[in-house]
Amino acid sequence: MAENVKIVYEGKTYEFPIIVGSEGEKGIDISKLRQITGLITLDPGYANTGSCTSSITFMDGEKGILRYRGIPVEQLAEHSSFIETAYLLINGRLPTREELDHVSALFNDNSLVHEDMQIFYQNFPRGSHPMGILSSMVNALRSFYPELQTIEEEINITVIRLLSKVRTMAAMSYRISRGHKVVYPRPDLKYCANFLNMMFDTPVKPYQVDDILEKALNVFWILHADHEQNCSTSAVRLVGSGRVNLYAAISAGIAALWGPLHGGANQAVIEMLTDIQKDGGNYMRAVARAKDKKDPFRLMGFGHRVYKAYDPRARIMKKMCHRILDKLSFDDPLLDLAKELEEVALKDDYFIDHNLYPNVDFYSGIVLRAMGIPTNMFTVMFAIGRFPGWIAQWKECSDDPNWRLGRPRQIYIGPEKKQYIPIDQR
Ligand code: SDX
Repeated sequence: MAENVKIVYEGKTYEFPIIVGSEGEKGIDISKLRQITGLITLDPGYANTGSCTSSITFMDGEKGILRYRGIPVEQLAEHSSFIETAYLLINGRLPTREELDHVSALFNDNSLVHEDMQIFYQNFPRGSHPMGILSSMVNALRSFYPELQTIEEEINITVIRLLSKVRTMAAMSYRISRGHKVVYPRPDLKYCANFLNMMFDTPVKPYQVDDILEKALNVFWILHADHEQNCSTSAVRLVGSGRVNLYAAISAGIAALWGPLHGGANQAVIEMLTDIQKDGGNYMRAVARAKDKKDPFRLMGFGHRVYKAYDPRARIMKKMCHRILDKLSFDDPLLDLAKELEEVALKDDYFIDHNLYPNVDFYSGIVLRAMGIPTNMFTVMFAIGRFPGWIAQWKECSDDPNWRLGRPRQIYIGPEKKQYIPIDQR
């Protein structure tokens, strides 16, 4: 039986339908609220507001559940590859062997970046943050690939270009920032191995792709591939709703992800752990600061708007830290520090009362350090992983014939009407 809610306002009773999701989530459909009552809702940060219905990703923050198109992320991390997971998110089902081989061939055909783009990289000031460079370069792709005639063909080739070229562009920004020659993608290497090779191959010492690192990178990007309506995905949807091209919408997502409260947290975690290490490993001082309301310091990599339990991605990332560091006999003191910090925080009443657990960013930086990725590239690594999710979410909108321009309302609290005063009378 359809449920509804009643709002009594100024002596009148209004009814609004309850929408129920396939996992039992419920929401009040207020799409006609203003038209019927003249009222709007107010929800800063949208903590209580659903922007859409979606079939892509399911999260249960209380139970620490994350599934892509119904498949638990733990199973995908164990058995899938990043490209297969990207296919699942974007197309709604796992690919056949032939389909996967065809996509890999398309990636090879589209992995190069126009040579003129190298001039752009060379003209960014030294020390420019790779996220600012990536956002600019993705936006610039539109200039090199003008719109095709048929929208279907346009979307398909744009998706392939974005997923394939983002690796090349990220590796290029790293190589050029160090004054090294650009390494081109190789058709004989798979997606993740190709990226690592483009980053680290040198004429002096050819790069040998280590299987454990290749697997770790697949898992890292699978864990970051989508996360329902987070800040950067909402940016992609909102910017896309103006019917701008997909390159520009993804560029907006990159910019939104850059912030330290969102995707920038993985870089902020390593910087925080490094500061604690310099402070003689005094992680108790960091915990005390995180609890001090007068101190703006927050424990980076802890807390989440949705997860009020352990982030399932953090659990997998933590296991991967051990696997990589053991295999490479790489001893990272920051991992020991992170584990001690986690142990203390999870027993502390403040963190327990506030439901603050490690999120995906808490251990991911240690995995990236083990791969040799520089800290200022950590958020770029998050962005590459999130490309399939941003594209899938944008495509879900684009496929919706009722896709409306996103335009929230407000409650005005500024000055009442007043007259203009000429400058010589002020
Ligand atoms: C990602 O949305 C997604 O899905 C994002 C993401 C994805 O995959 O796309 O999962 C990726 O962005 C993970 C989050 C990475 N960010 C960080 O690790 C930065 C540190 N964490 C926080 O700043 C914070 O936890 C947020 C931003 C992640 C969530 O903040 P909320 O939901 O807006 O909660 P809030 O800021 O209102 O805090 C609620 C309370 C406050 O205390 P009170 O004033 O209620 O007493 O919890 C406290 C906060 O002070 N709190 C923290 C804290 N996080 C929240 N206190 C200390 N350290 C922290 N990290």
